[in-house]
Amino acid sequence: MYLKTILLSLLLAFGSGVKAQVKPIVIATDQTSLVLTVDGNGRLHQTYLGRKLLNEAEYTALPQGPEAYLTHGMEDYYEPALHVNHADGNPSTLLTYTGHTAKALQQGVSETVVTLADPVYKTEVRLHYVAYAKENVYKLWTEITNGETKPVEIEKYASAMLHFNNAEYYLTQFNGDWANEANLSEQRLSYGKKVLDTKLGTRANMFVSPFFQLALDAPAQEEAGTVLTGTLGWTGNFRFTFEEDHTGRLRLIAGINPYASQYTLKKGETFRTPEFIFTLSYGGKGQASRNLHDWARTHSLKAGNGSRMTLLNNWEATYFGFDEEKLIGLIGEAKELGVDMFLLDDGWFGTKYPRNSDRQGLGDWTEIKDKLPNGIGRLTEEAKKQGVKFGLWIEPEMVNPKSELYEKHKDWIITLPGRREYHYRNQLVLDLANPKVQDYVFSVVDGLMTKYPDIAFFKWDCNSPITNIYSNYEGKEHQSHLYVDYVRGLYNVLDRIKAKYPDLPMMLCSGGGGRSDFEALKYFTEFWPSDNTDPIERLFIQWGFSQVFPVKAQCAHVTTWNRAASIKFRINVAMMGKFGFDIKLADMQKNEQDFCKKSISDYNRLKSTILDGDRYGLVSPYSGQHTATMYADKTKNRAVLFTFDIYPRNGEYRSNVTLRGLDAGRRYVVKEVNRMGNDDRQVGTYSGDYLMNIGLPVFTGAKMNSRVFEITAE
Ligand code: DGJ
Repeated sequence: MYLKTILLSLLLAFGSGVKAQVKPIVIATDQTSLVLTVDGNGRLHQTYLGRKLLNEAEYTALPQGPEAYLTHGMEDYYEPALHVNHADGNPSTLLTYTGHTAKALQQGVSETVVTLADPVYKTEVRLHYVAYAKENVYKLWTEITNGETKPVEIEKYASAMLHFNNAEYYLTQFNGDWANEANLSEQRLSYGKKVLDTKLGTRANMFVSPFFQLALDAPAQEEAGTVLTGTLGWTGNFRFTFEEDHTGRLRLIAGINPYASQYTLKKGETFRTPEFIFTLSYGGKGQASRNLHDWARTHSLKAGNGSRMTLLNNWEATYFGFDEEKLIGLIGEAKELGVDMFLLDDGWFGTKYPRNSDRQGLGDWTEIKDKLPNGIGRLTEEAKKQGVKFGLWIEPEMVNPKSELYEKHKDWIITLPGRREYHYRNQLVLDLANPKVQDYVFSVVDGLMTKYPDIAFFKWDCNSPITNIYSNYEGKEHQSHLYVDYVRGLYNVLDRIKAKYPDLPMMLCSGGGGRSDFEALKYFTEFWPSDNTDPIERLFIQWGFSQVFPVKAQCAHVTTWNRAASIKFRINVAMMGKFGFDIKLADMQKNEQDFCKKSISDYNRLKSTILDGDRYGLVSPYSGQHTATMYADKTKNRAVLFTFDIYPRNGEYRSNVTLRGLDAGRRYVVKEVNRMGNDDRQVGTYSGDYLMNIGLPVFTGAKMNSRVFEITAE
């Protein structure tokens, strides 16, 4: 019944007496129901969000609950979802139900759209709810239409508002900085507001990631407790507001950060908000993450079901200091290692201002003659000869003031008139609100692909937040559109790239993990979580991002950060994600080189389980000096277990690690694999029942020690 629209119901009602006509609107997944009801005055309420009841008729017994999408200026005293300034200056909006539709989008995916309208002003609001039955995930967004004859201004325009009525609320946020991304911390909420937001524009998530976990009634554990994990698909400023009122109810408002972003809607114009994606898990944070991983791979992530390439990147190996000969050597190393691709990073472009440091050349996308006398073509040719793919770094949204692009097109750059420019990493941001700039950014990729059709991958970087916020394109009246129009301009470019090069994989990077959201990941196959590749730091960073994103989308490279950790330890951390190297093979000992090659071949054998299996965070790095993560394939035929001893204490008690995701009734052969200088070690054969209840003594007292176990059903 793919894409066949089934109109389940279409109900129209106005004014009083509506309640009799509108039955509860039940938006359900296999496990959860979101129930909306319409009261006698036509107002829409969120009556229920929780575990699906066996008997749908019983939803009618529930108390009405708060108004679903609250507006500014009427009868509510807390933070609204919507604030519209009407053409006559009236800042209030009242919304009443005018109808709803429900249809199946595909097997297991339904969409309900509830339409609300202001009976006095012609503002129409459509609340979209897409429910993914099997994955137990919801995707919500809102459309706001100005039906007045004159322009109106929207000041707050949330994607979604949800209400909770629980004894306690525990919020986990993920924040940090460059090289310190996605640190997890949990706090109990109490009366008042907690806001997670960003105003950085482009490198939007540098300080805080666009996702959270909200545990209801009690703090959630990895495999127990009720928790809502939510995230916004928006590659720009976001805001999550959690506000507890005087009665102990909590409201969650998710959307674009309204900070400096009032938006004018012309007559008849519709504003579509980004998507708020959430899952409600009754089996802890781990189950919530697996719901989102499954959803992402099946329904959202670019090439979610496709494979991923292992690679050798030259950034850490050379920084800006390379030439053709060195790169040809590295392409040879990629071949020798056995990876799928060589990726050339920053520093290959700039004619008048060669990009030999981050101080100049950004924006001038022609090869530096001294470094690459025969251009990129010589490199793709060499890669082809060696049987590896070739990938290229670009940062097409940005410009160094010392560049030909800056000299030619000052009007394309976001800079404040009459003020001294402030430069973040010696660069400025191009004004993607401007369609001409969109054409230019598209032409960077298109031009390279046309000239060098053998480019098989792009790493798309974005190192600066939006600074000096002023658009030459938006004009005096619409400066507050810039943060929104920038992101829309970016999506316009990415849509064009996707349309012309549908199978081109791309890595999203933003000075590490400064951009990481599900809307961007409709265009990018993967992202770079952090420049920090110290394996110990990465255990935490990858743990953080894995609460939401499948590891298939998380690049993890072996580098020389933290040389005190063995190459095996560094490799094992990177093997838990989308595996790659950013290192010079020639600088390593022979046994290390051999181990790198062996690890690529081990990874190739295990990667379908790692990338497409269910991820279980068995022991959190936040809980002590050991951590363990396991991946089990959906058939329960094979699993891979990674265990790490960080800095164990003398005389500490070490308990067994119990596994998950196996079939209790089957028997499994457990082997320790990927040993350095040794063959695989048979650990034993156990039932799934034993492994999941008794577990294995996998941790040791050795410092910075790692182990990989392959678990195969007999
Ligand atoms: C920041 C990225 O995170 C790095 O991986 C590297 O590509 C540099 N930019 C290049 O300037």
